[in-house]
Amino acid sequence: MATLALSIAPVGDLTSAGADAVAVPVVGGEVLGAGKLAAALGVDLAAHVEREAFKGEPGDVLSLPAYGRLGDVSTVLLVGLGRAEDATAATFRKAGAALVRKAGKAESVFSAVTAEATPAEVAAFAEGALLAAYAFTAHKSEPKPATLRRVVLGVRRRNAKLDAALVRAGHRAAATTLVRDLANEPSLDKTPAWLAKEASRLAKRTGLGVTVLEPKALAAGGFGGILAVGSGSARPPRLIRLDYKPAGKARARVLLVGKGITFDTGGLSIKPNDGMAAMKTDMAGGAAVIAVLQALPALGLPVRVTGLVPAAENMPSGTAARPGDVIRHYGGRTVEVLNTDAEGRLVLADALAYGIAETDPDYVVDVATLTGAIGIALGKRVAGLFANDDALATALLAAADEAGERLWRMPLVEDYRRDLDSPVADLKNIGGKFGGGSITAALFLREFVDGRRWAHLDIASAARSDNDEDEISKGATGFGVRTLLTWLESL
Ligand code: BES
Ligand code: MN
Ligand code: ZN
Repeated sequence: MATLALSIAPVGDLTSAGADAVAVPVVGGEVLGAGKLAAALGVDLAAHVEREAFKGEPGDVLSLPAYGRLGDVSTVLLVGLGRAEDATAATFRKAGAALVRKAGKAESVFSAVTAEATPAEVAAFAEGALLAAYAFTAHKSEPKPATLRRVVLGVRRRNAKLDAALVRAGHRAAATTLVRDLANEPSLDKTPAWLAKEASRLAKRTGLGVTVLEPKALAAGGFGGILAVGSGSARPPRLIRLDYKPAGKARARVLLVGKGITFDTGGLSIKPNDGMAAMKTDMAGGAAVIAVLQALPALGLPVRVTGLVPAAENMPSGTAARPGDVIRHYGGRTVEVLNTDAEGRLVLADALAYGIAETDPDYVVDVATLTGAIGIALGKRVAGLFANDDALATALLAAADEAGERLWRMPLVEDYRRDLDSPVADLKNIGGKFGGGSITAALFLREFVDGRRWAHLDIASAARSDNDEDEISKGATGFGVRTLLTWLESL
């Protein structure tokens, strides 16, 4: 949960801001807009910056005590924005996050950092600040309340555009925070039923349609993938469906599918202990889909969106699927399960086939912590994008860029497809001959998209972070939400 309150106000006299700290921008190495403040402080800020060798790069913050010379203001924060000509929304996102992370003992900050910024830059700054303020405290007996409670964004002139940008940033940050909360939740309580309940609660609160298929309905419907993956667990699977209908005419019909493995042990193809604890976040794609859907009513986008989250716990047991089993997916295709740890594609295959049959979408996008291999290829901060449609790929890359999330397009290598041929079933669930595990996983999913315009985000790399950095938090990052929301806005 983030508890930081943000508001907008005109920048006036910073010495009488009424906050514990004031923040001013440093652009091209020069402290801006601190005239009266510097005078009251009796400090030559330019000389100070020089002495401290403060470069003022985006993300840099230099903190100075006011020694009682600024009334209630006890600290002055110099916030780097880099060179004016290089400044983008990303600069401001980083600066907003840095301000929050380096505010020290201040409970409130009046920031003049965005005094001259565009609405998009103010929004990015706000987003960075809100996301950096995130902490997962649900299971602390005595959670330490955050010191910083309030940031006022000083702007030259307040207007409707700025207000709207801030509201939008608030929704986007809240949706990202929701993913972090869901994904950071330990799997002890986080069962498929629990995830379905959370989705239902959010759907009711925001006015979405919600349907949850339980095992009986899944069996009757022929969802062999979801059932097989869930079969080893004492806590049965669910298929969660959320529906958003815009008030007016819809510009497009979109199907979003998110992997909802509430814990991935690997099943009988069990994982080594190293890193298994991280598999509580194997539903981060599903959480992203839930978070995007629940944000749509407030954002009021003119698109019709169905979100599907196949949720299952992948456990080894006497009832678990065995390597070599053949399962039948929704729609009838059979798959030889050679590795029960390649479970994400099995639940997604059912959901993709079902969602397409049910909703006849113009676009299909799935989000999944699908393969360790994507992290080997791209590292921790970049997710893989696969698509069978160039325009869709371009639109998603542009959306990611605007949202401050990094996507890299990966190839669907046709030659690798035959690696998925099985001697006993229509397909097998792993490749092997060629390597490129993320590519074969994507090619597997492609078999279930009926030739629709489809994109797959493999977020196994970027869904988790080992450390706090900029707006990213240690643990679940909430990756994908802002890209998807930005893309939906562009339709
Ligand atoms: N959930 C994992 C992928 C994963 C790995 C996510 C690391 C986050 C961090 C997925 O279900 C999986 O186990 N994939 C296997 C596929 C393999 C068996 C073909 C993998 O990547 O090793
Ligand atoms: Mn797995
Ligand atoms: Zn998995």
